[in-house]
Amino acid sequence: MKKTIRDFELKGKKVIIRCDFNVPIEDGVIKDDSRIRKSLKTIRYARSEGAKVILLSHLGRVKSEEDKEKYSLSLISNALSKLLRKKVIFIPKTRGEEVEKAINSMHERDVILLENTRFEDLDGKKESKNNKKLGEYWANLGDIFINDAFGTIHRSHASNLGISKILHSGVGFLVEKEIKELEKLQNPKRPYVIIMGGSKISDKIELVKKLVKKSDYLLIGGGMAFTFLKASGFNIGSSLCEKDQIPFCKKLLDKYSDKIVLPIDVITAKEIKENVKTNERFINEIEEDEIGLDIGPKTIKVFKHYLDDSKTVFWNGPVGYFEIKEFSKGTKRLCQIISESKAYRVIGGGDTARAVEEMGYSKKMNHISTGGGASLTYLEGVKLKALESIDEK
Ligand code: 3PG
Repeated sequence: MKKTIRDFELKGKKVIIRCDFNVPIEDGVIKDDSRIRKSLKTIRYARSEGAKVILLSHLGRVKSEEDKEKYSLSLISNALSKLLRKKVIFIPKTRGEEVEKAINSMHERDVILLENTRFEDLDGKKESKNNKKLGEYWANLGDIFINDAFGTIHRSHASNLGISKILHSGVGFLVEKEIKELEKLQNPKRPYVIIMGGSKISDKIELVKKLVKKSDYLLIGGGMAFTFLKASGFNIGSSLCEKDQIPFCKKLLDKYSDKIVLPIDVITAKEIKENVKTNERFINEIEEDEIGLDIGPKTIKVFKHYLDDSKTVFWNGPVGYFEIKEFSKGTKRLCQIISESKAYRVIGGGDTARAVEEMGYSKKMNHISTGGGASLTYLEGVKLKALESIDEK
């Protein structure tokens, strides 16, 4: 068992908490602050125990000097100050004298947020390549390290693995909850129904192989369904198709014909844009110049039938191009069906989490993971690199 923040005496200690404040921002506005809100419990706990709280996080992928403005954490620091009702001291640097001075003059319960850890990537990818010196530098700023950034827990970066190799370390409440909830999917109550969507099968081959064995039924939607449909011999028109994955899909369909459920009808259009003319097509009716962009109403009925009987549901990947209203019905209807089911309901992070939040169903789910890649890595059975190095109890 990994140590948690509760296993440490925090009073007067400088506690470095690695958070995942990697939130979507458009035109200077945070579009979804759930990751920030979900970090509050650990930060509040550390403050209530009298810690001096030093926060680290990444935001986006920083590749050029120009990215710095877009990905500064100053916006996050304002949002966090409001949510915490406590002024967060933002230091617009990742290291150096300003950082050290600010930390040395901290009082108990103060909160400092340093600048985006990935600014260090501009200097030889120091953060993302887990540069030893950088990890040591950050570790030297504190006494205890708490990893509460589930979204990056599958990565070995200087701000997670690097620091935890040096300091006494534990996980925060967010990571503890993620692991507890995702563990339940290792021994699920049955029937266990998994819905897989999203655009590419190639991104999820290992996951699909693993999950199809674990599940009783695997319902496939989204762009990836079309490669499966093509592999079953249907003409999919101009829909997304990964030709090189057809043999893999065929093999899977042969082996698990009793488990895999594919769409029987889809919504098509000739272009991917708002207000476009759409058609409802059985999958043997798709025309050459049509693109399949959502599951159709009959497929939804079939999926509902499996979901109504399920005891555990895991959903990863929207079943349609939900960003455009015309193709969002399938994903929305699934949100509704899952939220009404009596099953234990877990939503993988990334786009699915965003869809569930945006469509207003987040409160109806048992767990929505804050980590896209991280939750899938965990379910694939691959070790989470930055969790491995956290102290055992
Ligand atoms: C995420 O959004 O999945 C996490 O914050 C990790 O981000 P990354 O894929 O850029 O490492």
